[in-house]
Amino acid sequence: MIQKMKGTYDIIDDIAYFQWIEKKIIQISKLYHYKEIRTPHFEASQLFHRGVGETSDIISKETYDFIDRGHRENTLRPEGTAGVVRAYIENKLYANPMVPHKFFYYGSMFRYERPQKGRFREFRQFGAEAFGSSSPLLDAETIAFAVTFLKSLKLKDVKVSLNGLGDKASKQAYHQALKAHLKDSIHDLCKDCQKRYQENPLRILDCKVDTDHPALISAPKPIDYLTDDDRAHFEAVLEALKTMDIDVEVDPSLVRGLDYYTHTVFEIKVSKALLGNQNAICGGGRYNHLVETLDGPPTPAVGFSFGIERLIVALKAADIVMEDYGSHLYLITLGEAAQKEGLRIIQKLRLGGIMANIDFLGKSLKAQFKQSEHHKARFVVVLGDEEMRQGDVEIKNQETQEITRSSIRGLYATLVDLLTAPSACDTCEQKGESS
Ligand code: HAM
Repeated sequence: MIQKMKGTYDIIDDIAYFQWIEKKIIQISKLYHYKEIRTPHFEASQLFHRGVGETSDIISKETYDFIDRGHRENTLRPEGTAGVVRAYIENKLYANPMVPHKFFYYGSMFRYERPQKGRFREFRQFGAEAFGSSSPLLDAETIAFAVTFLKSLKLKDVKVSLNGLGDKASKQAYHQALKAHLKDSIHDLCKDCQKRYQENPLRILDCKVDTDHPALISAPKPIDYLTDDDRAHFEAVLEALKTMDIDVEVDPSLVRGLDYYTHTVFEIKVSKALLGNQNAICGGGRYNHLVETLDGPPTPAVGFSFGIERLIVALKAADIVMEDYGSHLYLITLGEAAQKEGLRIIQKLRLGGIMANIDFLGKSLKAQFKQSEHHKARFVVVLGDEEMRQGDVEIKNQETQEITRSSIRGLYATLVDLLTAPSACDTCEQKGESS
């Protein structure tokens, strides 16, 4: 039997989580005025080599590369930013004076990694990229967007870590300081770090092998080498986050695994209790030179991506109940006449937007109750000869066991009253207060 490829999986039972998350992505992106963009799943290999960077693990070890029948070098996208930047340049979206230009995307990414809990070879990302403003307020808004998205999913046990890398001058000063510091110990560090020492010393801080090496523990940190302007940018981001009540922690060692970052970098993690070691659910930052590197006009930009599979593992581990999970009503019918009448009733209810179901197999009362649990119905109504004669039914709330009487004719209106209308704003904390 042909089986799925290592690191991939079929989405079957988890589809409700995906759909819930996809709904929230659209809702929250609208709040922040991000428009959806869909780019191809494969691009010219060069895009990722030049965009993400040769020294990143993603490019040096993890890409799915293939030569097509026309002898072109293709790569399955390992992340979304480079493709969005390519589309931004190729479609001349920068020509629109209405900056910032904000885009979000959702879809599969591909990395040849060693599969484990929360790490796959095909995984999905929700990402957002904003182009055209270097304001630190936009960095802060981007982080606020990511946090609001998590809030809408009711995920609370999260920590936002932040660091400032600065722009070219700050990074260069830091590279020099780090190289001087590691001059005598670099040969003790892993092979990857020795390569990074030559090509991109900053990324030595991201080493997963020699984390406890004294030379790395005592290494200088980028934040101490920021120029005055870059320090002012970083502080303005922190200040803006504070005014929005977004809690963040400065992590001076945070550098992230992709080469394109400048200024702000951030990561959102959930507790290891929820997700184990792969507990970063979101990563992002500013990348002021990527558009130019990929032959576009100089354009500052900032963005983030969430790993959807990791989010789902965390949501499940935190026992978060999805909204609209299951159906609204299961109508238990006793006898053939009730079954026919039941179908008529639920057709009316469905036309009014109520998710309702009945049995088609003439199952026993007990078996239909079991079926209602399988449907995760919030309410159950029993319809038999007696109820049809009286024109009345009892609506049972499956969670509270509370009973509400209703006429059959008034069933729709009663159910609408009982079903708490979905909140227009799931992220509102202070309903009725505007600021
Ligand atoms: P990244 O940190 O490489 O950043 O990936 C973002 C998120 O994707 C991670 O935090 C993680 O949740 C998820 N992820 C990464 N690899 C895997 C995997 N193998 N299996 C499951 N989930 C995974 C980026 O991709 C940047 N493009 C983010 C960005 C956007 N920066 C600026 N704009």
